[in-house]
Amino acid sequence: MAKDGYEMYTILVTGGAGFIGSNFIRYVLENEKDVRVVNLDALTYAGNKESLENLPDPKRHIFIQGGIEDMDFVTRLLREYKITKIIHFAAETHVDRSIVDPELFMRTNVTGTYRLLMAALKYWEESNILDDGIVRFHHISTDEVFGALNKNDSPFDENTPYQPNSPYSASKAASDHFVRSFQKTYGLPITITNCSNNYGPYQYPEKLIPLIVLNAIEGKPLPVYGKGAQIRDWLYVVDHCDAIWKVLCNGVPGETYCIGGDTQVENIEVVKMLCKILDEEKPLQAGSYEKYIQFVTDRPGHDFRYAINCNKIKQQLGWQPKTTLHDGLRATIRWYLNNEAWVTAIRNKPSYQEWIMKNYLKRG
Ligand code: NAD
Ligand code: TYD
Repeated sequence: MAKDGYEMYTILVTGGAGFIGSNFIRYVLENEKDVRVVNLDALTYAGNKESLENLPDPKRHIFIQGGIEDMDFVTRLLREYKITKIIHFAAETHVDRSIVDPELFMRTNVTGTYRLLMAALKYWEESNILDDGIVRFHHISTDEVFGALNKNDSPFDENTPYQPNSPYSASKAASDHFVRSFQKTYGLPITITNCSNNYGPYQYPEKLIPLIVLNAIEGKPLPVYGKGAQIRDWLYVVDHCDAIWKVLCNGVPGETYCIGGDTQVENIEVVKMLCKILDEEKPLQAGSYEKYIQFVTDRPGHDFRYAINCNKIKQQLGWQPKTTLHDGLRATIRWYLNNEAWVTAIRNKPSYQEWIMKNYLKRG
């Protein structure tokens, strides 16, 4: 029996006040009744405690504010809660911000991940459970580490060589290499998932989909970089959470798994789909939301196309994406329309407004 009389095991989620992390905690509390979650999050601009309101069975969620780079603090946390599984989401995640301030991406994504690995290794070694088959360090990574595809190239898979192009993807690639090296060198049981672009509830509104939805309903320009010809493989966040849980339970230590939505679409098409759904959900007095689309200066080094072949996780772990892009976008739009307080709290913060000014003023 674990601490506090809980007959359950305790997992550590890092970055659980962010977009995917908070959805993952919701997913676990909803579906796994014998799991308790310790959520370690530094509450950077991207972290929101409001994303953790109304959790199912909230007494199984323990929020702790702190940074992954504080190795002593993290080691104490692992000891106190007897953590056997770590699911590591915490990161700086926005490509455009990484172009403006790459140093922060080095510190959080590379040094932070390294220190978290060290803390896990130290605690599991001192507890003599490293080789027991019960511990796992699961690292959440991105398809962006593989670089960019041309229109007719085969999708990325687990054997695609790393070729990161942005400071963000370079920092994620470096962290993936550290994670892998801790398995090879020290025997730390790790798994890595490389997933495509996620969308859904609780996504910070600097990312394409929530930004477009919220600008549209305020009658603001919908900024499309370049000609909007870039292609992304969109994955509904709940499908992603399902995949992570399957990897955590049945994935083979040392292996990586690619996760995608089987949905490759040009950015301009996604923006037009959002406008069409909004035309139905919240019609304008005249015309379509498409009238707000504005083509703006492109992102430097903008990766042209990402696409994922997720046959390995489908065949080995029986996972597949369940949500079509159309259904997922409609659910996402409805969520943003129904959660005005969450949206307003974020958009009123100086950190949000400063970023929007910095990123879009220069694009004209
Ligand atoms: P997010 O930006 O919404 O949230 C990141 C969270 O990490 C925030 O809550 C933040 O406060 C926390 N954090 C940042 N630095 C920290 C630190 N030093 N210590 C502790 N917490 C810290 O990110 P997201 O979109 O939820 O992404 C989660 C993970 O998934 C990331 O590792 C990201 O690289 C990966 N990923 C995301 C996508 C996507 O489309 N969102 C796609 C592929 C991979
Ligand atoms: P984003 O949501 O930032 O994710 P990522 O850069 O990790 O793929 O952007 C998704 C795509 O949308 C990407 O090709 C850049 C593009 N984009 C725009 O066209 N306009 C915008 O305002 C933003 C934020 C992104």
